[in-house]
Amino acid sequence: MSNAQSGRISIADLAAKKKAQQKWAMLTCYEQITAEIFDQAGIPVLLVGDSAGNNFLGFENTIPVTVDQLIPMAQAVVGASKQAMVVADFPFGSYESSAEQALETGVRFFKEAKVGAVKLEGGAKVVPQIGKLIAAGIPVMGHLGLTPQSVHALGGFKVQGRGDDADQIIKDAKALEAAGVFAIVLEAVPAELAAKITAQLTIPTIGIGAGGDCDAQVLVWTDLMGLSAKIPKLAKAYRNLRKEMADAATEFAQDVAAGRFPTAEQSFS
Ligand code: KIV
Repeated sequence: MSNAQSGRISIADLAAKKKAQQKWAMLTCYEQITAEIFDQAGIPVLLVGDSAGNNFLGFENTIPVTVDQLIPMAQAVVGASKQAMVVADFPFGSYESSAEQALETGVRFFKEAKVGAVKLEGGAKVVPQIGKLIAAGIPVMGHLGLTPQSVHALGGFKVQGRGDDADQIIKDAKALEAAGVFAIVLEAVPAELAAKITAQLTIPTIGIGAGGDCDAQVLVWTDLMGLSAKIPKLAKAYRNLRKEMADAATEFAQDVAAGRFPTAEQSFS
């Protein structure tokens, strides 16, 4: 089953996977080539995350990222994919003020990039924003636990929901579900807490540093491929593309210096 109009994975498909207890994967994606590759690999959901800030745009964290920076990335990912649901992240400052501000941001991502859904960080306090977006026909993914846009308020990139703090995350997860989100990212929370939330919700949870009991898992693609300079504990590098790319660049430079590139094969008569 897929979205009848677009042919892409739909929120109904993801709900059905939860019912059938089928786990699935989400990857971040910021441009055309990786969108093509991940889409053809059958990754059902591609997130144009504000993690582009510290993986693509050269910032220290996600906070400086703007809607104007994410829109061309989302356009590239939508344009280069066929089957995946493309979700655009709301960057810091693009939704917190009011439900109206959130709707304006959602409308931009929908009209200009044609994404299938949006994601925003926060619990009960963003319920008015979620209500406004959903009423306008824009599916929303939530994000709880370690919410990187609040890194300063949280006192750093720390595990959230340990001890008494667990109750607040459970309450927030239920508030988001009641508000109508179709899935919730749980980032850097104890595995036991994520398992409890996953069991109590009818919508899928998507874990990152949240243990193996979530309905789905997400990774930042540069971590997955071993491109990031430092792989965080919550991620796994499935390849070492950083080394592969460095080796290829060095080899190319050596071949040019030694006159081994180009050869007749790369030359025209
Ligand atoms: O921006 C991002 O990449 C994210 C994921 C880590 C869920 O929000």
